Amino acid sequence: MTDYAKIAQDLDQRIAGAADLAALEAIRVEALGKTGSISELLKSLGRMSPDERRVEGPQINGLRDGVATHIARRKAALEAAELDAKLASEHVDLTLPPPYERKGRVHPTMQVLDEMIAVFADLGFALAEGPDIEDDFHNFTALNFPPKHPAREMHDTFWLPEDEKGERKLLRTHTSPVQIRTMQQGQNRTLPGWIAQGQAPPIRVIVPGRTYRSDSDATHTPMFHQLEGLVIDRDIHMGHLKWTLDQFIARYFETPSVETRFRPHHFPFTEPSAEMDVRCDRSGGDVKIGQGDDWMEIVGCGMVHPNVLRNCGLDPDEWQGFAFGFGVDRLGSLKYGMPDLRDMFAADLRWLQHYGFSAFQAPNPATGLS
Ligand code: DAH
Repeated sequence: MTDYAKIAQDLDQRIAGAADLAALEAIRVEALGKTGSISELLKSLGRMSPDERRVEGPQINGLRDGVATHIARRKAALEAAELDAKLASEHVDLTLPPPYERKGRVHPTMQVLDEMIAVFADLGFALAEGPDIEDDFHNFTALNFPPKHPAREMHDTFWLPEDEKGERKLLRTHTSPVQIRTMQQGQNRTLPGWIAQGQAPPIRVIVPGRTYRSDSDATHTPMFHQLEGLVIDRDIHMGHLKWTLDQFIARYFETPSVETRFRPHHFPFTEPSAEMDVRCDRSGGDVKIGQGDDWMEIVGCGMVHPNVLRNCGLDPDEWQGFAFGFGVDRLGSLKYGMPDLRDMFAADLRWLQHYGFSAFQAPNPATGLS
C-alpha cells in the first residue's frame, strides 16, 4: 500500500521550504511534471483492477490536487516577497535634484542671418557664396578700387604671406567680391544646387558670409558678418533699390513704421552711392528703432558702377543693377539689444545661454520669421 499521506507530507514540507521560484518549480516538475512521481502514480491507475482503482483513484487525485494547490499558494507568496524586495531596493528618491541638461542655443548672428535670408528669399533672391580667402582682384581691383587708392587702406586688410607666385592673398574685407564671382559666369566652384552659380543676368542674389578687418572696439570685431545683395537686369534704377531695402527693413524689424532715409556716400563700386539710415532714439542708453530724432546707418548701397559691370564682361549700356551690403552683427545688436559686438564672438556660454535662441521656435504668422 502506498502511503499517500506520507508523500503529501514530504512534499508539503519541501514546498514550504522552497527558497525561491526556481526551487519551487523544480519540486513541481519532480512531482507533477510529465514523468513526475505523482504523474507516474496517476498513470499506474490504468494498470489497476476496477476495484483497486475505485479505492486508489480518489486518493491519488486528491494527492495531486492538494500538492498543486500548495505549490500555487507558495508560488503566490514567493512572487509577492520578490516584488516587495524589488520595491524596497529600487525605490526612487524624489527629493534628489534632476540631472542638469545643457541645451544648445542658436547664436544670435545665425538667427539674424536666417531671418534676413527668409525675407530676401520671399523677395525672390537666391543665395550665393564665395571664399573667405580672396585675391586682390576680386576684393578690390574688379570692384573698381584703383591701385594704390586710399580706399584700400581704409579696409584694414588682413594680408596673407606672399605665395610662390609672389601673390598676396587676403581675408576678404567685405562680401562684395562675390558680386564679381557671381557676374563672371562659369566659376570653378562646385556648390549645392540651391546656391546660385555664377550666372548670366538677370541676377538676383544675396551673399551672407564672414568678413575680416583688423579692427576691434564695441562696434567692430576682427571677424564679422555681412549680407551682400546684387540685382542685375535691364532698366533697374534707384527706386527698385529703395523699395527693396524698405521692404526688408519693415519685415526684419517686424513693423511697417520704420522710417528710412538715403544719404549720399561714396563707394568705388557703386555710382551713385548711398547709405541708408533708420530713424532711431538713442536718448535712453540703448537704441530704439522707429522712433526719436536720431538716424542710424544700417546699409551701404548704390547702383553698380559701369566699370564693375565691364570688369565682369557685362555691357553697362545693356545691363544695370543695384547692390547693397548689410552689417549682420550690427543689425542683430539693434534688433535684440546686444550693446557690445565683441561679446558676440567671445564664446562665453553664459552670454550664449542668455542671448541665444531656441532651435525650435514657431514662426511668427505675420512675418514668417521664427
Ligand atoms: N562692401 C561695403 C563695405 O564693406 C558695403 C557695401 C556698400 C556693399 C555698398 C555694397 C554696396 O554692395 O553697394 O563697406
